[in-house]
Amino acid sequence: MSERQQFKGRRAFIFAAIGSAVGLGNIWRFPYVAYEGGGGAFILPYLVALLTAGVPLLFMYYAIGHKYRGSAPLSWRRLGGGAEAIGWWQVGISFVIAVYYAVIIAWAVRYVGFSATQAWGDDAAGFLLGDFLQQAEGDAAFEVGVNLVPGVAIPLVLVWIFALIVHWRGIQGGIARISMIFIPILVGIFLLLMIWSLTLPGAFDGLNALFTPNWAALGDSNVWVAAYGQIFFSLSIGFGIMITYSAHLKRKTNLTGSGLTVAFSNSGFELLAGVAVFATLGFMAQAAGVGVGEVAGAGIGLAFIAFPTMLSTMPGGPIFGVLFFLSLVLAGITSLVSIVEVVLTAVEDKFGISRNAAVFGVGGLMAIISILLFPTTTGLNLLDVVDAFANNFGIVGAGLVSVITLAWLLRKLRVLGDHLNGVSSFKVGMVWKLMIALVTPIILGFMFVTEIIDRIQEGYGEMPSEYVTLYGWGSAIALVVIAVILTLIPWRKGVVDAPL
Ligand code: PHE
Ligand code: NA
Repeated sequence: MSERQQFKGRRAFIFAAIGSAVGLGNIWRFPYVAYEGGGGAFILPYLVALLTAGVPLLFMYYAIGHKYRGSAPLSWRRLGGGAEAIGWWQVGISFVIAVYYAVIIAWAVRYVGFSATQAWGDDAAGFLLGDFLQQAEGDAAFEVGVNLVPGVAIPLVLVWIFALIVHWRGIQGGIARISMIFIPILVGIFLLLMIWSLTLPGAFDGLNALFTPNWAALGDSNVWVAAYGQIFFSLSIGFGIMITYSAHLKRKTNLTGSGLTVAFSNSGFELLAGVAVFATLGFMAQAAGVGVGEVAGAGIGLAFIAFPTMLSTMPGGPIFGVLFFLSLVLAGITSLVSIVEVVLTAVEDKFGISRNAAVFGVGGLMAIISILLFPTTTGLNLLDVVDAFANNFGIVGAGLVSVITLAWLLRKLRVLGDHLNGVSSFKVGMVWKLMIALVTPIILGFMFVTEIIDRIQEGYGEMPSEYVTLYGWGSAIALVVIAVILTLIPWRKGVVDAPL
């Protein structure tokens, strides 16, 4: 990998890694998962998941990228033959997630403007699904067509142009640079929103709802699964991002120290977002005269329906809204570029194409697919089903196969541990190996199997089963096939065994 593509130093890398970790998951996923998972009691499964799986796997992926100095497929190939397929599986997930993640950023871009004028009037849900997204209704919503909705497609084109320019400027001049600018702004905005939200009437009811411990929840295995799921998603583990970024790091870099900084910054931001979101929900519940539980919601509904509804009743709502959606855009962009980079670095390595060809050829292809499939009158259901499969099978599956392959098939934990200890301040030992060889395979295996059983038995909400089969299971299987085919394509001479 050429010098041009290296991070200038540890600081640049840490900012890029925090930029990847801090995303929509912190802002709209964590607060709700914590609330549902026992409130204050959730801290226990959350910390257990962080320490037994999050941090150990973060170290593991850093070690892989840093020692073997390649994209996900190349690093896995250097670890051992067929393991390359794991790398392509991660590339595939990254490809899929990037094409729809960009769409949500495009919505947030529009909502910055909508907030200023409170464009949703008194029906935020109707506005989102009707006026803005123009979603088809009934059976027609489960067809996949290309009826573009310009109000969504145009901001999406802008998001992709911005992202591809960042990639074209490279790892240091593009990705690290925008992360070092965006992350401090993001933290500043969120601190402001948090303080502001705490001054709202009802704020403390919201915090009580979030933090009052429900110890009984700890007896529910779903809560533990949710904690591990949140940690994986939130730390961007399993997408190949951490392998890709650490491959661009200088030889002598404190890996574990960086990993701890990234992990705790990410959790700190989750707490910050949790407080701000629930204080605001408390205000909203009080204004509506209902319990906080009735206004809390996850994901898209929280950010694009509940929040707008609340903003209409809040003094200073337009400004609060502009800042909130701006923070979604900033958090989203730095995460988006991290996943697109996984794909770009991989094709550069395998096919020996230039940066420009990768950015404008492959990156351009991702942009086109994203623009054709999602800002359409049928895009929302497609986004939902692809998101569910990518998160529940893609990431968990990749993590599971990674730990089993490394610890049991290739038996590389000692080599990787020695590598970490050779460059890092915080040393890893038996505990780390135990987590990766035993604890994470058991937990991930449990998650993977229960998810498959649940999905087969229950399907996905109201989605017709043929739709789930075609676009959910279908794309999952297609990704495996593609990963195998790409693995079978021979490497150019001298790449795999190049001196590291
Ligand atoms: N870690 C991100 C978050 O918390 C998740 C993510 C990263 C999603 C990169 C996509 C791409 O939101
Ligand atoms: Na995160």
